[in-house]
Amino acid sequence: MKILVTGGCGFIGSHIVDELISNGHEVMVIDNLSTGLITNLNKSAYFCEVDFMTSEAERLIIEFQPEIVFHHAAQVSVQKSMFNPIDDATTNILGTIKLLEYCSNAGVKKIIYASSAAAYGNPNYLPIDEEHPIRPVSYYGISKHTPEQYIKTFCSTKELSFTILRYANVYGKRQDSTGEGGVIAIFLDRLLNKEVPIFFGDGEQTRDFIYVKDIVNANLFVINNGDNEVFNVSTGSGVSLNNLYDLMNKGLNTNISPKYERPRKGDILHSYLDNGKLRELGWSPQYSIESGLNDILDNLDK
Ligand SMILES: NC(=O)c1ccc[n+]([C@@H]2O[C@H](COP(=O)([O-])OP(=O)(O)OC[C@H]3O[C@@H](n4cnc5c(N)ncnc54)[C@H](O)[C@@H]3O)[C@@H](O)[C@H]2O)c1
Repeated sequence: MKILVTGGCGFIGSHIVDELISNGHEVMVIDNLSTGLITNLNKSAYFCEVDFMTSEAERLIIEFQPEIVFHHAAQVSVQKSMFNPIDDATTNILGTIKLLEYCSNAGVKKIIYASSAAAYGNPNYLPIDEEHPIRPVSYYGISKHTPEQYIKTFCSTKELSFTILRYANVYGKRQDSTGEGGVIAIFLDRLLNKEVPIFFGDGEQTRDFIYVKDIVNANLFVINNGDNEVFNVSTGSGVSLNNLYDLMNKGLNTNISPKYERPRKGDILHSYLDNGKLRELGWSPQYSIESGLNDILDNLDK
């Protein structure tokens, strides 16, 4: 099958590309390398270094005629969204609307959209299911959720189906640790360099850490399942940063204490997501936090 992955040089997108290619699909990657890396790119992918919201991207998509589009390109930083909501909304909201038009003009059958648990904001109850109120506390949360509404309305009027996947906190190889990367990538980098990691808050905040291989499986699973539905993709349970850090210290045979600093604006205290809806369809996560971390540590040099 011909498949387009926007953001296919990024952390999650590149893992999806690898799996699609190893399953025999013909994959086009559109990425402007704003945060992604050329070294993440699978050599068998057809790569277009272009902004996904340009007319050049539209031309390339129409020429390639993908059946499925995985939309992962985005402004991904919560912090940046708070400083520059216009840039954030331009890429995440306007960009997705343009991509929908391009998909429709190219005869795409299905779009699979990478949304985020950031849409929920501070939870009313845990675990957060898909019916939980949407009350984002960051512009990023708003800009990841708003396209969901556009996708639903747009697809209801066209021959285009969709699946929306709301990810919990994803971790794994290729995650950026230099800037706004996930805490696991940042902690790992610090510990490997024998540096002290910084915790924003007291470390008792919980997150639902899902391994990137489970995210990849969920994406491939919804190629043929879950049309026109929204699903959480998560482990279903929360791990505190202090717990996570202990596991990492143990796995690396280090004993470095973190430094605690003031919590950051926009950060959510506790969050874990109910994954029952996607489980009912037949998907389930294969990695616990321990086995996911071990998989990373076992493959550090690869
Ligand atoms: N990492 C997580 O924990 C997480 C959680 C929830 C949702 N998501 C979503 O998953 C997707 C992928 O996130 P990631 O963590 O892999 O981030 P990432 O920064 O590694 O990947 C994003 C990719 O998109 C590319 N990109 C950005 N703007 C572009 C543009 N205008 N045109 C073309 N390419 C562009 C970047 O160069 C990069 O390769 C994003 O949509 C993000 O919102 C991620």
